[in-house]
This record gives sequence, structure tokens and C-alpha cells, in this order.
Amino acid sequence: MAQLVLEGVSKNFGRTPVLEGLSLEVAKGEFLSFLGPSGCGKTTALRLIAGLLEPDTGSIAIGGRCVCQAGRGYSLPPEERQVGMVFQSYALWPHMRIRENVAYPLKLKGYPRKEIEERVQKMLALVDLQGLEDRYPHQLSGGQQQRVALARALIAEPLVLLLDEPLSNLDAKLREKMRLEIKDIQERVGATVIYVTHDQVEALTMSDRIAILCQGRLQQLDTPVAIYERPANTFVADFVGSSNLLPARVVNTDGRLLLLNGHPDAFLQLPLPAGISSGQEVKVALRPEALLLKPWRGNGGLQGRVLRSFYRGREVECFVAVGNQTLRVLMPGKTAWVPGQEVEVEVKEGLVLVA
Ligand SMILES: Nc1ncnc2c1ncn2[C@@H]1O[C@H](COP(=O)(O)OP(=O)(O)OP(=O)(O)O)[C@@H](O)[C@H]1O
Ligand SMILES: [Mg+2]
Repeated sequence: MAQLVLEGVSKNFGRTPVLEGLSLEVAKGEFLSFLGPSGCGKTTALRLIAGLLEPDTGSIAIGGRCVCQAGRGYSLPPEERQVGMVFQSYALWPHMRIRENVAYPLKLKGYPRKEIEERVQKMLALVDLQGLEDRYPHQLSGGQQQRVALARALIAEPLVLLLDEPLSNLDAKLREKMRLEIKDIQERVGATVIYVTHDQVEALTMSDRIAILCQGRLQQLDTPVAIYERPANTFVADFVGSSNLLPARVVNTDGRLLLLNGHPDAFLQLPLPAGISSGQEVKVALRPEALLLKPWRGNGGLQGRVLRSFYRGREVECFVAVGNQTLRVLMPGKTAWVPGQEVEVEVKEGLVLVA
């Protein structure tokens, strides 16, 4: 049975639609990410699930129980929805010690003191914070505060755990570490998680499935592999994997394509999706790592000119002018590509998307 069901959930702020007809089901124990650019409605979706906002249309069910139905004006308050939430800012109580912060949800529910003590200890052990229970939040590092927020959200054993960009205040190294820790804790307690992020690496590495949102609309809901390898549209291809998007026309249904980028005879050969006909205009999505640069020898192929190149440690990032477009290329190795150099851009793989 699905642990969380959204059916046709919409939300407007004034006249602006912020979420439009969002429907999805999340299984018990599943880790689902909402991924999308700033302002696409991710936090709004979480707040609707938590009961901090009311939808204009649609319904939400948690653990098999309807928690709100817009048409009927029915809505359970947040404290009765059995959800845990971690905010981007952690929102710890600054005047409470760590043990009091973590105990807070149980105290609110009137649990006996002894049981609260035991569960707080268990929770602090789970997030690896034993020994710090008498400190105040400002006496902890960002990563430790983040784990306190997680412990506080998990202690009441919520049916669904909502995490809103919980790692965005941390530096890159700590983000990586916490990513693994959150995933580990989630698996150990079997929590159902909705994880909001605009970081594609977080979403790809942590999630069972990813919901891609753009301007309040669901673009694709799928496994990380499917999202990356088979993006449903140009938005998903660009947002996840930073594809280069090139306009093209189908020359024949064997997959011969003419790029429409001001380059007179730039042809590519790529597999076509079903239902595409000759003459149709499409978009070709090329990942930066699926392109290979070679010195231009005048033997045909896709000719380009290096604009800039940057050393990145394991690879070199190049910007290459091809026709009237600039392609981003990630080349393994340390070869310096010189601005102005003529190159052949070899396309190792690419996707043809309906424009
Ligand atoms: N209370 C509000 N009143 C009016 N507009 C709002 C309100 N809250 C959010 N919005 C608008 O709704 C849109 C979606 O906001 P939301 O906070 O859900 O975005 P988000 O996807 O979480 O973005 P970010 O990645 O920046 O956190 C934005 O355009 C925002 O300006
Ligand atoms: Mg947000």
C-alpha cells in the first residue's frame, strides 16, 4: 500500500499557479526526491503534505488515511498527520539543549519521561551524537546540527519524513558525508522519505525514484537511471546531466540528422525514438561527457573551434563553438586545448528528443 498519495494537488498564490495537478504515489520505505530549479514549487509541495498550507484542488493521503481534500474543506492539522520535517535552516530551538530539542515532539505528545529519555538516547546513538546532549545548538557544527534536526524529525516515528534541502548549508565535503549518513539512517529505520533538492547528484545517488518539477508541473517521475538515460523531454535532459541541446532536422528514419545550427553540413547519426518521421524538427541532447575532441584534420565530421578550456583535476572542461552554438565538453585527461584551436567533435552518444 502506498504510504503517501497525492491526487491532482494544485496551489495558487494569488493568481499565480505554483503547483499544478500534482499526482503521485510513494511506497512505504521509498526514498523519493523532488528535483527542480529554484521556485518550481518543491517547498510548496512539502508544506502541502505537512499541512502547513492548504491545496486549492486535490487530495492527500498519508498511511492510507485522507489528510486533506480541497473540495470538501477537510484538512487535518500538521500535528495529526504523523509527518516529520527537516527544514533547510534546521530550525532548532536555540534556547534548548540537544536532548530537549530531540525530545520535543514526544513531550508535545505527552509521552512519559522515562520513555522520552530512552528514545532520545536511542535516537542520538543512531545519528552518532552521544555525548553532545547537553550542548546548545550554537555549540555544534553545521553537520551536527543537521543530525539533531534529523533525530528530532525521526523520534516520533513519522509515517513520512519530509526533508527540505537539508544539506544546502554545508560545505561540499560535508554534504557528501551527510548524504551517505542520511541514506544509511533512512535504510536502518525503513523511513519513507520525500527529499527536496536542486542538486542532481544528491537526487541521483540517494533516491529510489525522482520527481522532476518545472514551474509547478511534474515533468517525469522515474528511477535515477531512467531519468538520466531516458529523459522525457528537453527540460529533464538539460536539468539532469546538463546536456547540450541542438536543434536538428531528421533527414531519414535511419537516424541521419542535420544540425540546424548554422553549420552547413553538420550531420549526425543517432538512434531515433519511435514515431519520428523524415523532415521533422527535433532536439538532440548531447551530454558533455559523451563528446570527444580531436585535433581537426579536415577529414569531415563535426568541425568546431575551442573558445575556452579549464583544468578540473581529472578532466578538462572545454567550450567549443560549433556553428552558431557553444557546446560544453568534458574531456578526460590533462590535454590543454588552446583557444582558437580547430577541433573535430566526435559524438559518442546522444539522444533525440521531440522538440
Ligand atoms: N507565501 C507565498 N506567497 C506568494 N508566493 C509564494 C509564497 N511561497 C512561495 N511562493 C512562490 O511560489 C513559487 C514556488 O516556491 P517554492 O518555495 O515552492 O519553490 P522551491 O522549488 O522550493 O524553490 P527553492 O529551490 O528556491 O527553495 C515561487 O515562485 C515563490 O516565489
Ligand atoms: Mg524551497
